[in-house]
Amino acid sequence: MRFRNRTALITGAGVGIGRAAALRMAEEGANVVIFDVNPETLGTVEREVRAFTENVLACVCDVSDEESVNKLVKDAEKRFGGVDILVNNAALWRCWKSFQDTTTEDWRRYMDVNVMGTVYMTKAVLPGMLARKYGRIVNVASVAGVYGNANMAHYSATKGAVIAMTRALAKEVTDKGVLVNCVSPGSVSSSEDPDVHSFQPSTLSFMGRTGTDAENANLICFLASDEASYISGQNIQIDGCRRKQ
Ligand SMILES: NC(=O)c1ccc[n+]([C@@H]2O[C@H](COP(=O)([O-])OP(=O)(O)OC[C@H]3O[C@@H](n4cnc5c(N)ncnc54)[C@H](O)[C@@H]3O)[C@@H](O)[C@H]2O)c1
Repeated sequence: MRFRNRTALITGAGVGIGRAAALRMAEEGANVVIFDVNPETLGTVEREVRAFTENVLACVCDVSDEESVNKLVKDAEKRFGGVDILVNNAALWRCWKSFQDTTTEDWRRYMDVNVMGTVYMTKAVLPGMLARKYGRIVNVASVAGVYGNANMAHYSATKGAVIAMTRALAKEVTDKGVLVNCVSPGSVSSSEDPDVHSFQPSTLSFMGRTGTDAENANLICFLASDEASYISGQNIQIDGCRRKQ
């Protein structure tokens, strides 16, 4: 039970990687706080988490709304006495547009959710972690933030920002007990598929397949656990040996 007596807050937990991480942490003893903007999928995951623990708090939250983030993080801290683990997973990414076709509004929305959502969540949770001298922050970026994806310049830029923020913040807080890392998935199986072990063929990796939600959750849970006690400021790619685009 790696997460006994730990409280984990996972954003974008309604489907995909976030859902798989929430279920895994609950299975391994965590109190689980799940945030998502979609109330239906959030409710489904809340019920799934209850198979492992009654210590679950589900909050409908748009991470780009700072006021709402601050209020709901306070609620979570009140309920469980603090947040030990933050997984910044919520993001927008399903938009393929040439740079020329990507509007200023597209850029702003992606920056607001993917970058500022990560900033707001981290700012809300960090004071409690610093006060308790313990914290694990795992940001979910993407290989797009490392290599840049064609027709996804705005998405790629947000994920590059998350990777850089991870490295910078780690240098400020690692000596205070808060370890900050990033995972960068390559192609992942469709997040609409509820089977966390499913994958599809993919020419984008030398493994010839996509990664599964469970494989991504494994890495997130490792970095969020005390097994990763000497790792901070890293971006770890989980991409089946990516054929760089
Ligand atoms: N799936 C992939 O192929 C892939 C590849 C690389 C990186 N990633 C990253 O992994 C993470 C999870 O992706 P996924 O494909 O598993 O899930 P997804 O993109 O299908 O779902 C993300 C979840 O976040 C929620 N969400 C979106 N906007 C939100 C907001 N403003 N506030 C709160 N919640 C919000 C959605 O409702 C959804 O439940 C994302 O950060 C994504 O960029 C995914």
